[in-house]
Amino acid sequence: MESYSVCDCSILDLNKHHSDRKGNLSVVQNSITIPFDVKRVYYLYDVPGGESRGSHAHRELSQLIVAASGSFRVVLDDGKVKRTFFLNRPYQGLIVKPGIWRDLDDFSSGAVCMVLASDVYKPEDYIRDYDDFLNYRQEISTHK
Ligand code: TYD
Repeated sequence: MESYSVCDCSILDLNKHHSDRKGNLSVVQNSITIPFDVKRVYYLYDVPGGESRGSHAHRELSQLIVAASGSFRVVLDDGKVKRTFFLNRPYQGLIVKPGIWRDLDDFSSGAVCMVLASDVYKPEDYIRDYDDFLNYRQEISTHK
């Protein structure tokens, strides 16, 4: 099991196709734009001001998180280092590698958080307790 750090998670610039007076279009393509194949798309919306989401890590799942509308903050944590990203552009996405804890907050009114994921929904892939997460990080770093 590969042990990723927050340094392996970064903002990806998506293609932005601009049409004069007709708006913009951005594209995500399996294996071309992103380093995994997308098996699931879900999106968070109507998040009340002041609420936070996330607060979990995934064992295997990779994700691309996009602020399809509005803005929000994502704090990534690999058990040692935290990195904060503010997403507010629909032509950018944040790649989140497996084994990284994430907290999302500071949602603007009308924010849409679109997530492209490398697998279908598997509850057993989630780690929802922070102490369990730290133990898991310890485990994967000693089994490298
Ligand atoms: P949850 O993971 O708790 O949301 P967040 O981490 O953003 O706060 O998911 C909320 C609910 O939606 C929970 O009951 C599980 C369900 N859900 C699915 O059924 N399929 C999915 O793909 C996802 C992401 C969530």
